[in-house]
Amino acid sequence: MTEALRDQFGRSIEYLRISVTDRCNFRCLYCMPAGGLQWLPKAEILTYEEIAEAVGQLAPLGLRRLRITGGEPTIRPDLQQLVAQLRAVPGIEDIALSTNGVRLEALGPELRAAGLDRVNISADSLRADRIAAISRRNLGFDPVRAATAAEQCGLDPIKINVVVMRGVNDDEVEDFARLTIDHPWHVRFIELMPVGDMRELTWEHVVPSDEVLARIRRLGALEPSAGPARGNGPAAYYALPGARGSVGVITPMTHTYCGSCNRVRLTADGRLRTCLFGDHEVDLRTPLRGGEPLEPYFRRALAEKPREHALLQMKVGGLKALSQVGG
Ligand code: 5AD
Ligand code: SF4
Repeated sequence: MTEALRDQFGRSIEYLRISVTDRCNFRCLYCMPAGGLQWLPKAEILTYEEIAEAVGQLAPLGLRRLRITGGEPTIRPDLQQLVAQLRAVPGIEDIALSTNGVRLEALGPELRAAGLDRVNISADSLRADRIAAISRRNLGFDPVRAATAAEQCGLDPIKINVVVMRGVNDDEVEDFARLTIDHPWHVRFIELMPVGDMRELTWEHVVPSDEVLARIRRLGALEPSAGPARGNGPAAYYALPGARGSVGVITPMTHTYCGSCNRVRLTADGRLRTCLFGDHEVDLRTPLRGGEPLEPYFRRALAEKPREHALLQMKVGGLKALSQVGG
Protein backbone atom coordinates (compact mmCIF):
# COMPACT_ATOMS: atom_id res chain seq x y z
CA MET A 1 0.00 0.00 0.00
CA THR A 2 1.43 3.35 -0.97
CA GLU A 3 1.83 5.94 1.75
CA ALA A 4 -1.05 8.42 1.86
CA LEU A 5 -0.40 11.91 0.61
CA ARG A 6 0.26 14.36 3.40
CA ASP A 7 1.76 17.80 3.24
CA GLN A 8 4.61 19.00 5.43
CA PHE A 9 2.11 20.06 8.12
CA GLY A 10 0.44 16.65 8.24
CA ARG A 11 -2.70 17.68 6.40
CA SER A 12 -3.86 14.77 4.25
CA ILE A 13 -5.20 15.55 0.83
CA GLU A 14 -8.51 13.84 0.26
CA TYR A 15 -10.16 16.57 -1.74
CA LEU A 16 -9.38 17.88 -5.22
CA ARG A 17 -11.01 20.76 -7.05
CA ILE A 18 -10.85 20.30 -10.79
CA SER A 19 -11.24 23.30 -13.08
CA VAL A 20 -12.46 22.19 -16.51
CA THR A 21 -12.49 25.57 -18.23
CA ASP A 22 -11.34 29.12 -17.52
CA ARG A 23 -14.28 30.54 -19.47
CA CYS A 24 -17.64 31.64 -18.16
CA ASN A 25 -21.01 32.81 -19.44
CA PHE A 26 -21.10 35.38 -16.60
CA ARG A 27 -18.69 38.21 -15.82
CA CYS A 28 -19.26 38.62 -12.09
CA LEU A 29 -17.97 41.90 -10.69
CA TYR A 30 -15.78 40.19 -8.10
CA CYS A 31 -14.47 37.51 -10.38
CA MET A 32 -13.74 38.67 -13.91
CA PRO A 33 -13.10 41.89 -15.76
CA ALA A 34 -16.01 43.02 -17.97
CA GLY A 35 -14.05 42.19 -21.11
CA GLY A 36 -13.23 38.67 -19.93
CA LEU A 37 -9.69 37.34 -19.63
CA GLN A 38 -7.12 35.99 -22.04
CA TRP A 39 -8.62 32.50 -22.47
CA LEU A 40 -6.46 29.40 -22.59
CA PRO A 41 -5.98 27.87 -26.04
CA LYS A 42 -7.85 24.59 -26.39
CA ALA A 43 -4.66 22.54 -26.87
CA GLU A 44 -3.49 23.59 -23.41
CA ILE A 45 -6.64 22.41 -21.66
CA LEU A 46 -6.64 18.89 -20.25
CA THR A 47 -8.98 16.48 -22.00
CA TYR A 48 -11.52 14.58 -19.89
CA GLU A 49 -9.40 11.46 -20.37
CA GLU A 50 -6.33 13.28 -19.02
CA ILE A 51 -8.25 14.56 -16.00
CA ALA A 52 -9.58 11.07 -15.26
CA GLU A 53 -6.06 9.65 -15.61
CA ALA A 54 -4.69 12.15 -13.06
CA VAL A 55 -7.53 11.36 -10.64
CA GLY A 56 -6.96 7.65 -11.18
CA GLN A 57 -3.33 8.09 -10.10
CA LEU A 58 -4.26 10.21 -7.06
CA ALA A 59 -7.01 7.96 -5.73
CA PRO A 60 -4.64 5.23 -4.43
CA LEU A 61 -2.82 7.99 -2.49
CA GLY A 62 -5.93 8.90 -0.53
CA LEU A 63 -7.99 11.15 -2.81
CA ARG A 64 -11.69 10.61 -2.01
CA ARG A 65 -13.70 13.67 -2.98
CA LEU A 66 -13.85 15.75 -6.11
CA ARG A 67 -15.36 19.07 -7.05
CA ILE A 68 -15.71 20.16 -10.66
CA THR A 69 -15.31 23.93 -11.10
CA GLY A 70 -14.42 26.51 -13.75
CA GLY A 71 -14.76 29.26 -14.89
CA GLU A 72 -18.18 27.83 -15.43
CA PRO A 73 -17.92 24.07 -15.83
CA THR A 74 -21.33 23.57 -17.46
CA ILE A 75 -20.30 25.52 -20.56
CA ARG A 76 -17.73 22.87 -21.46
CA PRO A 77 -19.43 20.43 -23.87
CA ASP A 78 -20.46 16.97 -22.64
CA LEU A 79 -19.55 17.53 -19.00
CA GLN A 80 -21.57 14.41 -18.13
CA GLN A 81 -18.86 12.37 -19.88
CA LEU A 82 -16.24 13.63 -17.41
CA VAL A 83 -18.56 12.89 -14.49
CA ALA A 84 -19.02 9.33 -15.74
CA GLN A 85 -15.26 8.83 -16.13
CA LEU A 86 -14.55 10.18 -12.64
CA ARG A 87 -17.35 8.07 -11.18
CA ALA A 88 -15.61 4.98 -12.58
CA VAL A 89 -12.37 5.66 -10.63
CA PRO A 90 -12.16 3.23 -7.66
CA GLY A 91 -11.99 5.01 -4.30
CA ILE A 92 -13.80 8.19 -5.34
CA GLU A 93 -16.70 8.58 -2.92
CA ASP A 94 -18.12 11.98 -3.72
CA ILE A 95 -18.38 14.16 -6.83
CA ALA A 96 -19.66 17.71 -6.51
CA LEU A 97 -20.11 20.54 -8.99
CA SER A 98 -19.75 24.29 -8.46
CA THR A 99 -21.84 26.18 -10.98
CA ASN A 100 -23.45 29.55 -11.59
CA GLY A 101 -26.65 27.57 -12.12
CA VAL A 102 -27.60 29.05 -15.47
CA ARG A 103 -27.61 25.68 -17.26
CA LEU A 104 -28.56 23.56 -14.28
CA GLU A 105 -32.21 23.08 -15.19
CA ALA A 106 -31.16 21.83 -18.63
CA LEU A 107 -28.20 19.68 -17.57
CA GLY A 108 -29.05 18.54 -14.02
CA PRO A 109 -30.75 15.26 -14.95
CA GLU A 110 -27.97 14.01 -17.26
CA LEU A 111 -25.23 15.05 -14.81
CA ARG A 112 -27.05 13.23 -12.03
CA ALA A 113 -27.49 10.16 -14.22
CA ALA A 114 -23.75 10.19 -14.97
CA GLY A 115 -23.02 10.03 -11.24
CA LEU A 116 -22.86 13.59 -9.95
CA ASP A 117 -23.70 13.64 -6.21
CA ARG A 118 -24.29 17.26 -5.36
CA VAL A 119 -24.04 20.86 -6.38
CA ASN A 120 -23.07 24.32 -5.15
CA ILE A 121 -24.89 27.13 -6.91
CA SER A 122 -23.46 30.66 -6.90
CA ALA A 123 -26.22 33.23 -6.50
CA ASP A 124 -25.62 36.76 -5.31
CA SER A 125 -29.13 38.14 -5.60
CA LEU A 126 -32.74 36.98 -5.85
CA ARG A 127 -33.71 39.96 -8.02
CA ALA A 128 -33.44 39.67 -11.80
CA ASP A 129 -32.12 43.19 -12.38
CA ARG A 130 -29.43 42.80 -9.75
CA ILE A 131 -28.38 39.37 -10.98
CA ALA A 132 -27.84 40.91 -14.40
CA ALA A 133 -25.90 43.84 -12.90
CA ILE A 134 -23.62 41.70 -10.71
CA SER A 135 -22.99 39.05 -13.39
CA ARG A 136 -22.91 41.68 -16.16
CA ARG A 137 -25.08 39.36 -18.26
CA ASN A 138 -28.80 38.95 -18.68
CA LEU A 139 -29.28 35.21 -19.02
CA GLY A 140 -32.57 34.93 -17.16
CA PHE A 141 -30.98 33.12 -14.22
CA ASP A 142 -33.38 32.41 -11.36
CA PRO A 143 -31.62 30.95 -8.30
CA VAL A 144 -34.74 29.51 -6.69
CA ARG A 145 -35.73 27.77 -9.91
CA ALA A 146 -32.20 26.40 -10.37
CA ALA A 147 -32.00 25.09 -6.80
CA THR A 148 -35.46 23.55 -7.09
CA ALA A 149 -34.48 21.82 -10.34
CA ALA A 150 -31.29 20.49 -8.74
CA GLU A 151 -33.22 19.17 -5.76
CA GLN A 152 -35.79 17.50 -8.00
CA CYS A 153 -33.19 15.58 -9.96
CA GLY A 154 -31.81 14.13 -6.73
CA LEU A 155 -28.67 16.20 -6.19
CA ASP A 156 -28.11 16.37 -2.44
CA PRO A 157 -27.22 18.45 -0.52
CA ILE A 158 -27.96 21.70 -2.34
CA LYS A 159 -25.72 24.59 -1.34
CA ILE A 160 -26.13 28.17 -2.45
CA ASN A 161 -23.10 30.47 -2.26
CA VAL A 162 -23.66 34.19 -1.84
CA VAL A 163 -20.74 36.64 -2.04
CA VAL A 164 -21.82 39.52 0.19
CA MET A 165 -20.95 43.01 -1.07
CA ARG A 166 -21.73 46.15 0.90
CA GLY A 167 -24.12 48.44 -0.92
CA VAL A 168 -24.57 45.87 -3.69
CA ASN A 169 -26.49 42.91 -2.22
CA ASP A 170 -26.04 43.05 1.56
CA ASP A 171 -29.70 44.05 1.95
CA GLU A 172 -30.66 40.58 0.69
CA VAL A 173 -28.97 38.57 3.44
CA GLU A 174 -32.25 38.02 5.26
CA ASP A 175 -34.10 37.07 2.05
CA PHE A 176 -31.48 34.42 1.31
CA ALA A 177 -31.52 33.16 4.91
CA ARG A 178 -35.31 32.91 4.79
CA LEU A 179 -35.04 30.39 1.92
CA THR A 180 -33.56 27.87 4.39
CA ILE A 181 -36.73 27.78 6.47
CA ASP A 182 -38.92 26.02 3.89
CA HIS A 183 -36.24 24.43 1.68
CA PRO A 184 -33.60 21.88 2.73
CA TRP A 185 -30.95 24.15 1.23
CA HIS A 186 -27.73 25.40 2.75
CA VAL A 187 -27.06 29.06 2.04
CA ARG A 188 -23.46 30.09 2.61
CA PHE A 189 -22.45 33.72 2.82
CA ILE A 190 -18.90 34.33 1.62
CA GLU A 191 -16.77 37.33 2.51
CA LEU A 192 -15.75 39.16 -0.64
CA MET A 193 -12.05 38.75 -1.42
CA PRO A 194 -11.05 41.92 -3.22
CA VAL A 195 -8.27 40.38 -5.32
CA GLY A 196 -7.52 40.43 -9.00
CA ASP A 197 -8.56 42.98 -11.63
CA MET A 198 -11.76 44.34 -10.16
CA ARG A 199 -12.47 47.98 -10.70
CA GLU A 200 -15.93 48.18 -9.15
CA LEU A 201 -15.20 46.53 -5.81
CA THR A 202 -12.80 47.47 -3.05
CA TRP A 203 -12.02 46.55 0.54
CA GLU A 204 -14.90 48.85 1.53
CA HIS A 205 -17.32 46.35 -0.02
CA VAL A 206 -16.24 43.56 2.32
CA VAL A 207 -18.94 42.69 4.89
CA PRO A 208 -17.51 40.74 7.86
CA SER A 209 -19.45 37.54 8.51
CA ASP A 210 -20.24 38.58 12.09
CA GLU A 211 -22.32 41.37 10.60
CA VAL A 212 -24.05 38.91 8.25
CA LEU A 213 -24.95 36.69 11.21
CA ALA A 214 -26.27 39.68 13.16
CA ARG A 215 -28.61 40.47 10.27
CA ILE A 216 -29.85 36.88 10.08
CA ARG A 217 -30.56 36.91 13.85
CA ARG A 218 -33.26 39.50 13.16
CA LEU A 219 -35.23 36.55 11.71
CA GLY A 220 -34.81 34.38 14.80
CA ALA A 221 -32.24 32.87 17.15
CA LEU A 222 -29.46 30.98 15.41
CA GLU A 223 -28.39 27.60 16.75
CA PRO A 224 -25.06 26.12 15.68
CA SER A 225 -25.78 23.37 13.17
CA ALA A 226 -23.89 20.45 11.71
CA GLY A 227 -24.80 21.82 8.30
CA PRO A 228 -25.08 19.64 5.24
CA ALA A 229 -24.34 15.95 5.59
CA ARG A 230 -21.64 15.98 2.95
CA GLY A 231 -18.74 18.31 2.27
CA ASN A 232 -16.40 19.59 4.90
CA GLY A 233 -15.27 22.93 3.61
CA PRO A 234 -14.36 25.89 5.75
CA ALA A 235 -17.94 27.03 6.49
CA ALA A 236 -19.42 27.41 10.00
CA TYR A 237 -23.13 26.50 9.99
CA TYR A 238 -26.20 27.68 11.93
CA ALA A 239 -29.92 27.05 11.67
CA LEU A 240 -32.95 29.26 12.18
CA PRO A 241 -35.68 27.84 14.45
CA GLY A 242 -37.55 25.03 12.67
CA ALA A 243 -35.57 25.48 9.46
CA ARG A 244 -35.16 22.57 7.03
CA GLY A 245 -31.83 23.92 5.79
CA SER A 246 -29.00 25.91 7.31
CA VAL A 247 -27.05 29.11 6.87
CA GLY A 248 -23.27 29.18 6.80
CA VAL A 249 -20.51 31.73 6.73
CA ILE A 250 -17.18 31.43 4.96
CA THR A 251 -14.66 33.91 6.28
CA PRO A 252 -11.54 34.17 4.14
CA MET A 253 -11.08 37.80 5.16
CA THR A 254 -11.68 37.83 8.90
CA HIS A 255 -10.51 34.37 9.98
CA THR A 256 -7.90 32.00 8.73
CA TYR A 257 -8.87 28.37 8.35
CA CYS A 258 -5.73 27.36 6.49
CA GLY A 259 -4.69 25.05 9.34
CA SER A 260 -7.39 22.56 8.39
CA CYS A 261 -7.11 23.06 4.63
CA ASN A 262 -7.35 19.67 2.93
CA ARG A 263 -7.67 20.80 -0.64
CA VAL A 264 -5.61 21.10 -3.76
CA ARG A 265 -6.66 22.40 -7.16
CA LEU A 266 -6.08 21.20 -10.67
CA THR A 267 -6.22 24.08 -13.15
CA ALA A 268 -7.84 23.68 -16.56
CA ASP A 269 -4.38 23.61 -18.15
CA GLY A 270 -3.11 20.91 -15.85
CA ARG A 271 -1.22 22.63 -13.06
CA LEU A 272 -1.64 21.34 -9.52
CA ARG A 273 -2.12 24.33 -7.25
CA THR A 274 -1.83 23.72 -3.54
CA CYS A 275 -3.08 27.09 -2.30
CA LEU A 276 -5.55 29.51 -3.83
CA PHE A 277 -3.07 32.31 -3.28
CA GLY A 278 0.61 32.60 -4.00
CA ASP A 279 2.43 30.78 -6.75
CA HIS A 280 2.54 27.24 -5.48
CA GLU A 281 1.99 25.10 -8.54
CA VAL A 282 3.43 22.05 -10.23
CA ASP A 283 2.87 21.27 -13.92
CA LEU A 284 1.16 17.90 -14.34
CA ARG A 285 0.29 18.24 -18.01
CA THR A 286 3.81 17.62 -19.29
CA PRO A 287 4.31 14.35 -17.40
CA LEU A 288 0.72 13.35 -18.13
CA ARG A 289 1.16 13.83 -21.87
CA GLY A 290 4.60 12.23 -21.74
CA GLY A 291 3.25 9.10 -20.06
CA GLU A 292 5.31 9.62 -16.88
CA PRO A 293 3.94 8.56 -13.48
CA LEU A 294 2.51 11.54 -11.59
CA GLU A 295 3.18 10.52 -8.00
CA PRO A 296 6.59 12.30 -7.68
CA TYR A 297 4.93 15.46 -8.97
CA PHE A 298 2.09 15.18 -6.45
CA ARG A 299 4.62 14.77 -3.67
CA ARG A 300 6.60 17.78 -4.82
CA ALA A 301 3.45 19.90 -5.01
CA LEU A 302 2.45 18.92 -1.49
CA ALA A 303 5.87 19.60 -0.07
CA GLU A 304 5.30 23.18 -1.20
CA LYS A 305 1.77 23.62 0.13
CA PRO A 306 2.07 26.67 2.37
CA ARG A 307 0.99 26.78 6.00
CA GLU A 308 -1.46 29.59 5.29
CA HIS A 309 -2.29 32.03 2.55
CA ALA A 310 -0.86 35.49 2.17
CA LEU A 311 -4.10 37.16 1.13
CA LEU A 312 -4.21 39.50 4.07
CA GLN A 313 -0.72 40.69 3.24
CA MET A 314 -1.90 41.16 -0.35
CA LYS A 315 0.75 38.85 -1.71
CA VAL A 316 -1.50 37.25 -4.26
CA GLY A 317 1.01 36.07 -6.79
CA GLY A 318 0.08 36.36 -10.44
CA LEU A 319 -3.62 35.80 -9.87
CA LYS A 320 -5.82 38.03 -12.04
CA ALA A 321 -9.15 36.48 -11.13
CA LEU A 322 -10.36 33.61 -9.02
CA SER A 323 -12.00 32.13 -12.11
CA GLN A 324 -8.49 31.16 -13.21
CA VAL A 325 -8.19 28.72 -10.35
CA GLY A 326 -11.78 27.68 -9.86
CA GLY A 327 -12.44 29.53 -6.61
N1 5AD B 1 -14.52 36.86 -3.44
C1 5AD B 1 -15.22 35.87 -2.86
N2 5AD B 1 -15.64 34.77 -3.51
C2 5AD B 1 -15.32 34.67 -4.80
N3 5AD B 1 -15.58 33.71 -5.71
C3 5AD B 1 -15.05 34.09 -6.89
N4 5AD B 1 -14.43 35.27 -6.79
C4 5AD B 1 -14.59 35.66 -5.49
C5 5AD B 1 -14.18 36.79 -4.74
N5 5AD B 1 -13.45 37.77 -5.29
C6 5AD B 1 -16.27 32.47 -5.40
C7 5AD B 1 -17.73 32.65 -5.09
C8 5AD B 1 -18.44 32.36 -6.31
C9 5AD B 1 -17.56 31.26 -6.82
C10 5AD B 1 -17.68 31.00 -8.27
O1 5AD B 1 -16.23 31.65 -6.52
O2 5AD B 1 -18.09 31.63 -4.21
O3 5AD B 1 -19.75 31.98 -6.00
FE1 SF4 C 1 -18.39 32.98 -13.78
FE2 SF4 C 1 -18.51 32.12 -11.26
FE3 SF4 C 1 -16.70 33.94 -11.98
FE4 SF4 C 1 -19.27 34.60 -11.91
S1 SF4 C 1 -18.03 33.98 -10.15
S2 SF4 C 1 -17.81 35.11 -13.55
S3 SF4 C 1 -20.24 32.77 -12.54
S4 SF4 C 1 -16.77 31.87 -12.68
